[in-house]
Amino acid sequence: MKLLFIGDVVGRPGRQMVQEYLPKLKKKYKPAVTIINGENAAGGKGITEKIYKLFLETGAQAVTLGNHTWDNKEIFEFMDRASSMIRPANFPEETPGSGYTLLKVNDLEIGVVNLIGRTFMQPNDCPFKKADQIVKELRKRTPYIFVDFHAETTSEKQAMGWYLDGRVTAVVGTHTHVQTADNRVLPKGTGYISDAGMTGPMDGILGMEKEAIINKFLTNLPVRFEVAGGREQLNGTLIEVDRKTGQAKNIERIQISEEQPFYE
Ligand SMILES: [Fe+2]
Ligand SMILES: [Fe+2]
Repeated sequence: MKLLFIGDVVGRPGRQMVQEYLPKLKKKYKPAVTIINGENAAGGKGITEKIYKLFLETGAQAVTLGNHTWDNKEIFEFMDRASSMIRPANFPEETPGSGYTLLKVNDLEIGVVNLIGRTFMQPNDCPFKKADQIVKELRKRTPYIFVDFHAETTSEKQAMGWYLDGRVTAVVGTHTHVQTADNRVLPKGTGYISDAGMTGPMDGILGMEKEAIINKFLTNLPVRFEVAGGREQLNGTLIEVDRKTGQAKNIERIQISEEQPFYE
């Protein structure tokens, strides 16, 4: 059984890549479940209901978020009815929405968990203790658990990978928008990668127009970030899961771009 994950979709270029390649990826790999990180899907900041529905219609079963969860105010209206969309579970208790979900796929149940880091990020609740609670709950129902850990530092992400090794199917990092080459299965069977990368513009800075960001580094003046144009890419990861144990057998990187064309 396979799980497909697509890293942070940025703006229209990212959505177009999902529409073009998700059907092809599904045809090639036949994943039981596809999960998309959509925190940057609406103009780089947040998500709308229309985009959430587009992801589901294009073939995803769950959408995860991150530090940009609340950037598009529309989310407060539709979050309650978006049952397949989750935000980081270690946001403060009062926060709307849910931090994990249980997907039903044929005769299987697959847990999907979203957590956010605290190093160089907002001071949220402890992602490790929150992971303990949720994983304990989910494991009563299923050994198949996918974790999107949205965090800035590789050390915090690796710590989560090792912390959850043997308890979840995979810990996949998001947020830095740059795919890391450290994908591997940890000794107790958890598939791990520090960052799945980003889906969207290739020639910007983390998906945004580079001129504005360079200018910000030069001047420290406030600038308006816009989604970049130009070439596009899709980044993600594919996890092969042992049906019996729920452990990862393999985790591979997916990169599609002009330089790395997709072969059907
Ligand atoms: Fe992101
Ligand atoms: Fe982020």
